[in-house]
Amino acid sequence: MTTRWFLLSALLLCAPALTHAEDTPALWEKSCKNCHGPDGRAQTRMGQKESIPDMSRATWQKAESDADIRAVIANGSSHNPKMKAYKDRLTPEQMDALVRYIRTFKTQEKAP
Ligand code: HEC
Repeated sequence: MTTRWFLLSALLLCAPALTHAEDTPALWEKSCKNCHGPDGRAQTRMGQKESIPDMSRATWQKAESDADIRAVIANGSSHNPKMKAYKDRLTPEQMDALVRYIRTFKTQEKAP
């Protein structure tokens, strides 16, 4: 009985972390994909109209620090009001997870 409770509580403790990691692609789909595209390359109408940078490019990935990316997500872009501030809509953990998610776009770039 005790073991069972122990296992159950261990599972419950892990649950939020698991859901969280799986939720980030869904969060991107829901909140960011319309403008930035499924792969961050911004091949969308909004992307073309607003010249949103292609996040899969190695040069972009190199030029932007995690803190830069995090700041744009939290506070919006100072260049373009279409990129809104998300700090009131997302938790700090969600914004951190999005930064990590954006980093994964780089691996989709074809080698030269
Ligand atoms: C309504 C369209 C729209 C949505 C939705 C949107 N963005 Fe943006 N985003 C933009 C535009 C336009 C820019 C370009 C701003 C600029 O030129 O500085 C941008 C820029 C950015 C940048 C900075 C790129 C750079 O090179 O400085 C990041 C990071 C970013 N968005 C992340 C996100 C994330 C994460 C989400 C979802 C939570 C999101 N965006 C949702 C339109 C959008």
